[in-house]
Amino acid sequence: MGWLDHRAALVTGAGSGLGRAIVTRFVAEGANVVAFDKSEEKLREVRSQHGEKVATFAGDVRSGKDNERACALAVEAFGRLDTFVGNAGLWDFNRTLEESSTDSLSSGFDELFAVNVKGYLLGARAALAALRDTGGSIILTLSNAAFYPAGGGALYVASKHAGAGLVKQLAYELAPRVRVNGVAPGGMETDLRGPASLGLSRTSIGEAFPLDQVMEQRSALRFAPTPEDYVGAYVLLAAPAQSKTVTGSVLDISSFGIPVRDVRG
Ligand SMILES: NC(=O)c1ccc[n+]([C@@H]2O[C@H](COP(=O)([O-])OP(=O)(O)OC[C@H]3O[C@@H](n4cnc5c(N)ncnc54)[C@H](O)[C@@H]3O)[C@@H](O)[C@H]2O)c1
Repeated sequence: MGWLDHRAALVTGAGSGLGRAIVTRFVAEGANVVAFDKSEEKLREVRSQHGEKVATFAGDVRSGKDNERACALAVEAFGRLDTFVGNAGLWDFNRTLEESSTDSLSSGFDELFAVNVKGYLLGARAALAALRDTGGSIILTLSNAAFYPAGGGALYVASKHAGAGLVKQLAYELAPRVRVNGVAPGGMETDLRGPASLGLSRTSIGEAFPLDQVMEQRSALRFAPTPEDYVGAYVLLAAPAQSKTVTGSVLDISSFGIPVRDVRG
């Protein structure tokens, strides 16, 4: 018996990193999943890993039509949609205000917010009717940057705070039938990229920073989490029997709110 037996989910940004780990864990918990990503190549790997438990959709979360098609695929392939996980994201590689020209701020904002905020909003809208049918829920991937500074530059931190706003407003608007929550993980080495308009699309966060080392030093729990370490919160929120009373919450699973203890000697 899994926590998500007989349920169906849609996960955006499912081709690598956290999204892919969510797909793997949801399948292990008994769910069928639509994996939505812009990368055909990554989706091929997801398909070969999971076979018929997963249907894949190649598209862009910035497109309303693509979000609608991905939701329709869940209903067509699995007969229902219980959980929409908005997860596809871009990072700004800690670009500061002073380092950014006015033009790059403007184009970087448009590209990053289109994925991190508009993508979530369009996905939630597209999933709404199917989620109402099942009494399902929405889960948005946020970040330590939804609570604290320095998890990115102004663009990324503002976009993740905006995501927290979406959680509260949508939880209010969609109650009592559909629950809406966020999950705020901390750092992990993934393929996370930045806006092409800022020249940040060719390097991943894992290549640009010794992130595992940073996490070991700066996280209160003193270890470098993998994407798999963060996915339990998604299972909890997707399983109504385990989180029946939870809506409008953002689970801060980053450990960044706790100061690092000096454990020398
Ligand atoms: N890596 C970290 O340290 C970290 C920390 C906190 C939060 N997060 C958040 O986790 C989420 C997942 O990121 P990740 O670290 O797993 O990165 P990732 O790059 O490995 O995964 C993101 C996926 O989204 C896809 N994607 C990007 N733009 C898209 C678009 N327009 N349409 C469709 N798919 C698109 C990419 O192809 C990629 O497969 C993001 O929301 C990110 O902000 C990451």
